[in-house]
Amino acid sequence: MKKLVCALATVTVISLSSTSQVLASPGEEIYMENCAACHGEDGKGALPGITPDLTSLSGPLSKSDEELITSITEGFESPGSQMAMPPLGGNDELDEDDVKEILEYMREEFGDDD
Ligand code: HEC
Repeated sequence: MKKLVCALATVTVISLSSTSQVLASPGEEIYMENCAACHGEDGKGALPGITPDLTSLSGPLSKSDEELITSITEGFESPGSQMAMPPLGGNDELDEDDVKEILEYMREEFGDDD
C-alpha cells in the first residue's frame, strides 16, 4: 500500500510539472516519464525476461558511468536480445545533462548503497 501511495504521488507530481516547479529530483521525474514504462518505477523491469533488473548487483548498474551514458544515449542491445533499448528511451529531446540526472537517480534508488 505504501508503494501504491508513492506511485500515485509521483504521477501527481509529474502531471503538475508543466505548470509548476517540481519537488521530486529532476532525475526521478525524467526517469518516471521516459524510462519507468519499460524499467518499472522500482527499476526491476516492467517487461519480465526482457528488461534487465537495474537493482541487481551484477546488473547494468555495475557498469561504469561512461558505458551507461552511452547505452542510454545511443541505445543498447545485448547478444540474443529479444528487444533493444531505444536511444534515450525514445525521447530525443533529452540531452546529456538529463541523462546524467537519470543516472544519478538510478544509482541512488537502485544501486547497492541503499
Ligand atoms: C521501450 C522500452 C524501454 C524504454 C522506454 C527504456 N528502456 Fe532501457 N532498456 C530496455 C531494454 C529492452 C533493455 C535491454 C536491452 C538488451 O539487453 O538487449 C534496456 C537496457 C537498459 C540499460 C542497460 C544498458 C547496459 O549497458 O547494460 C539501462 C542502463 C537502461 N536501459 C536505462 C534506460 C533509461 C535511463 C531509460 C529512459 C531514458 C530507458 N532505459 C528507457 C527497454 C527500454
